[in-house]
Amino acid sequence: MKPRVLSGVHVTGWGAYAPSLVLTNADLERLVETSDEWIVSRTGIRERRIAGPGETTASMAAIAGLRAIATAGLQPEDIDLILVGTLTPDYPLPSAAVLVKEAIGNTKAAAMDLAAACSGFVYGYAMAHAYLSSGLGKHALVVGSETMSRCTDFTDRGTCVLFGDGAGAAVLSASDEPGGTLGMELTTDTAATYSIWIPAGGATRPANEATVAGREHLMRMKGGETFKVAVRRLGSTSLRALEKAGMGLDDVDLVVPHQANIRILEALAKSMSFPMERVFVNIDRYGNTSAASVPIALVEAVAEGRIKQGDRIVLVAFGAGGTAGAVALEWTADPADRLRADAVDPDSISISVPNIEPVNPFPPALEWLLEKVESDAGNGRRPGPDARSTTTISDAAVSGAGRSAAVTPPER
Ligand code: ACO
Repeated sequence: MKPRVLSGVHVTGWGAYAPSLVLTNADLERLVETSDEWIVSRTGIRERRIAGPGETTASMAAIAGLRAIATAGLQPEDIDLILVGTLTPDYPLPSAAVLVKEAIGNTKAAAMDLAAACSGFVYGYAMAHAYLSSGLGKHALVVGSETMSRCTDFTDRGTCVLFGDGAGAAVLSASDEPGGTLGMELTTDTAATYSIWIPAGGATRPANEATVAGREHLMRMKGGETFKVAVRRLGSTSLRALEKAGMGLDDVDLVVPHQANIRILEALAKSMSFPMERVFVNIDRYGNTSAASVPIALVEAVAEGRIKQGDRIVLVAFGAGGTAGAVALEWTADPADRLRADAVDPDSISISVPNIEPVNPFPPALEWLLEKVESDAGNGRRPGPDARSTTTISDAAVSGAGRSAAVTPPER
């Protein structure tokens, strides 16, 4: 039977989740030779979220995914395809997407991970679009979820100040209605193949005592090189997606970019003579959450009233391996539908774990933060994708209770 080719693919659902543990620049000052002033002026980042001991890429993805499904007014069983963009899956095998499928209670979807680093969500969007528009399914769940804290070297000040954890998701639905996805462009620039990499843990250098001792399972980055390629590729990829959509920059209401560095976004806007007021920025609160960054930003942009029905927006990302992708789309969903996500109880999500020796995945360098949260329990809450369970470490630290004497600051 010839597949039905549908004319349109729309974002019908969106949702995000950020862990409650907050790591501020002041906290990082205790770990490495850095300062709040350096981090803010060079990156725009003030704080980032860290997954707690019980949280994983799949668990965060499942919460964000269920929120997106609820926003779309669908049931988990309506989803035909689950794609999780991530560079930090729970395991090499099975994929995080399989764990998400099990956790949300879906039985029929094809499920797989997508390895395109920070571009993972935008790549996933394009793949889901192709899947749906070729008639292979009606609804796809595209997630970007990362536990970057598990592959961050907390002795390397050049990278540990940049990254954070979290998840964002969108439901894409095939439809004959006008609007929705208008143009897409994906590229991979091999000039940046090893600009960001994790040397060990793959088949070339399987983990062993020497690779662990050499910290080779943690991320390394040539920051300056990455910066230049990122500005160039974010710009050229956005323009190509717009060209395919028959649009120009003047037609764009909001750009929702990968949040890697505020200076990258400012350089990008300047190079394209595009006003920063129409570039969505939330890097100050989450840092670089890799594949999760674009969907978390999208969810916040809708919640803040920055995206309305009929608006034309560009989602654009750049990531490790030189991956870059952009989607130009017309927003057709009702922003008020986001309220449906409130029905999702994050505590009801559980990820199945086989009977294996338990390992505490929490970074040893940050264990003192957990003690601090415990000692400051009951203090400060701040809004975010998961405002209900947000404890702010810095607020707690300055709220009068101060840092508990039981908390041992790390040695530098
Ligand atoms: N605190 C204080 N000083 C620091 C820190 C820090 N946290 N980090 C670096 N420095 C120092 C360096 O050691 C250097 O000192 P020196 O001059 O004495 O040698 C100085 O600051 C300047 O270092 P640069 O690396 O040149 O600093 P730069 O201005 O380039 O900023 C940064 C570094 C923030 C990493 C920037 O290059 C950047 O954002 N790069 C792009 C990252 C990115 O886009 N990643 C996207 C993809 S990520 C993914 O896919 C997983």
